[in-house]
Amino acid sequence: MLYEAVRELPGGKETPFVFLTARGAREDVFAGKSLGVDDYITKPISSHELLTTVRTRLRRSNELMFEQMKSAYKLTLVMLAGGIEARDQYTYKHIMRLNEYSSAMAQELGWPETRLEALEFGAILHDIGKLDINRSILEKKEPLTAEEWKEMRRHTEYGAFVLKKIDQHDPLHYLAPALPIVLYHHEAWDGSGYPEGLKGEEIPEEARLLAVVDSFDAMTSDRPYRLSLGPSRAFEEIKNRAGAQFDPKMVEVFIHCWEQGRIKKIMDELKDDVEEKDDLMDLKGMH
Ligand SMILES: [Fe+2]
Repeated sequence: MLYEAVRELPGGKETPFVFLTARGAREDVFAGKSLGVDDYITKPISSHELLTTVRTRLRRSNELMFEQMKSAYKLTLVMLAGGIEARDQYTYKHIMRLNEYSSAMAQELGWPETRLEALEFGAILHDIGKLDINRSILEKKEPLTAEEWKEMRRHTEYGAFVLKKIDQHDPLHYLAPALPIVLYHHEAWDGSGYPEGLKGEEIPEEARLLAVVDSFDAMTSDRPYRLSLGPSRAFEEIKNRAGAQFDPKMVEVFIHCWEQGRIKKIMDELKDDVEEKDDLMDLKGMH
């Protein structure tokens, strides 16, 4: 039958189907729907009604395709970024947790969907620039030398460079809003961060938000050069750094999420495979 033949063609699976028939019996409608027909209209029908139905179906089908492409795109980025994180000896769960922590905070702030999406890409890609950092530095167990830190800090600018390159070939400029987040996620509220030493509200809000959750996650995960803090100690540390490393407003929002139990819940759901230890080693290595 025509329906099945079209479905077999390349691209046929996405073609929306509307059955137009004189028969309105329930069994026919049911048979059509069980085949996967998108809509079913019975005669007599006005041309206006027919056009509206077709237009609606096409629009819906485009929306679905766009959503599917977006999630495939996102997954590709997560896997790519996860590969970089694996080089850095901790799993892609770090990215997933960052994503969840930052979404929780953005929801608390009442940010709209488009802003949430940019933040999500920022969270996924924040350390993409580590692709260009020497493996021996990423995996070094001893504290980094001044020279090595200089090299490590380059990952923000290199990450922004990668995103700019992608953006030049992307007519939708899909990743453009994530660029400032990637570039400025290590800036500090008091101006002591990098790459530009921006201060306070000069730093984009999204980057100020991500800085909090990135540090929290770094403190609660084992790294090559130190073991993790327990969550409560990491939480205290975040509060202590309000107004210095972090935007006090963002710390406030993080405290709200913590008090609602959202942070702990995300930690539990996306636990690393390694055992957590409650030791404090090198706090300086986190920034
Ligand atoms: Fe980073």
